[in-house]
Amino acid sequence: MTFNGIEFIEKKRDGLRHTREELQTFIDTVMRGEMPDYQISAWLMAAFLNGLDDDELMHFTQALAHSGETLSYPQEERIIDKHSTGGVGDKTTLVLIPLVAACGSSISKLSGPGLGYTGGTIDKLESIPGMNMHLSEIEFRDQVKSIGCAISGHSHKLAPAEGKFYKLRDVTGTVPSIPLITASIVSKKLAGGAYGYLFDVKCGSGAFMKDIGEARKLAQKLVDVSKKLGKVCVSVITDMEQPLGEWVGNSAEVCEAIEVLSGRGPSDTRELCLTLAAYMLNMSGRANTYEEGLALSSKALDDGSALKKFEELIIEQKGDSSVIREPEKVLPKASSAYKIRSDRDGYLSKLDALLIGEGLRALGGGRLTLDDTIDPSVAIRLLHKVGDKVSEGDVLLTIYYNQDKQLQESLLYIEKCWEVSNRAEKRKLIIDTVS
Ligand code: URA
Repeated sequence: MTFNGIEFIEKKRDGLRHTREELQTFIDTVMRGEMPDYQISAWLMAAFLNGLDDDELMHFTQALAHSGETLSYPQEERIIDKHSTGGVGDKTTLVLIPLVAACGSSISKLSGPGLGYTGGTIDKLESIPGMNMHLSEIEFRDQVKSIGCAISGHSHKLAPAEGKFYKLRDVTGTVPSIPLITASIVSKKLAGGAYGYLFDVKCGSGAFMKDIGEARKLAQKLVDVSKKLGKVCVSVITDMEQPLGEWVGNSAEVCEAIEVLSGRGPSDTRELCLTLAAYMLNMSGRANTYEEGLALSSKALDDGSALKKFEELIIEQKGDSSVIREPEKVLPKASSAYKIRSDRDGYLSKLDALLIGEGLRALGGGRLTLDDTIDPSVAIRLLHKVGDKVSEGDVLLTIYYNQDKQLQESLLYIEKCWEVSNRAEKRKLIIDTVS
């Protein structure tokens, strides 16, 4: 089929439907380097404004997924992949992967780097000395086979067209579009070859989806497209108005994950990990019901088997496994601390995830562009969560920093991130489930 880029853009601009063949030819043309970035960007804006219907979305997702190499596993292994739409303090992957594997279900996880105020799993695990987060395809598959789990950086060979589109969306104001986000996420999962997917759709100030209506639409779209593509799938909508857990920062989040894997840790991080693990175990067939999955995963956190599995994963990926016993000694720590105190008695009514994520980035703990390097040692500790009763003078947050200039920049965000009022309810963490 001959491809006319201008006509293709005009069709979407005018709100018309693309056929499967047109979308496939579009991706093939992009992959051959024969469509300039300004034309791809113009089409992205047209798709952002006019959307993609269900058939277009499925064909676009499939074409992105097959734009490079793909992985595959025997169906009977029922490997489940997990994806979070991105949040602040979200260390669930660090807990979930060894947890689900310890319960007897194989699980593979390909992750992208963190960008902007949201943290990335790869950056977090790279704070463990020696850790290899860039496994080859063979190493990745062999490790899933031998110990039941692996976590690695997303290979540029899988769904390469998606990588190209994401970079352009990031600089053309076309990221927050439900069809484009759905195609981006599901195409990467499809190329990764898993049997089923668990999507953690974050909702709130620190998430792409700021309001519940949009989060529900995204959760439903992810499920609909995945099911049409023959996958089992659950979306869980979870709160990201305040960060998850007690710590935000790369090495600090590894520490918190180890705490949770040891049967301790903040109750919200534990609750979310157990909920997601229960759905995954149910989808993989390891548990007959969600409740059975919950019982299995609670036991694995409390009897040490999930922590043991994390140690195996670290050893396989060449990391320093003494981090399991002495995390404080092994992980990098910032040199100075600054405390933020409540100026009155009352209840903590706001702990804004976006501002805290930006505050961490200003300390050097996140990146603005993919080329920025990360300081894994800086962190923000949340000593209270929304709904807690506090007194004047109580420490609400502690900032762990290395450079005064970075602290000053971070305070521009952190000083605005909290409020104490006369009344405040605790926030609901698990908002809804779509399956
Ligand atoms: N996460 C992704 O992988 N893609 C998007 O477009 C947004 C969030």
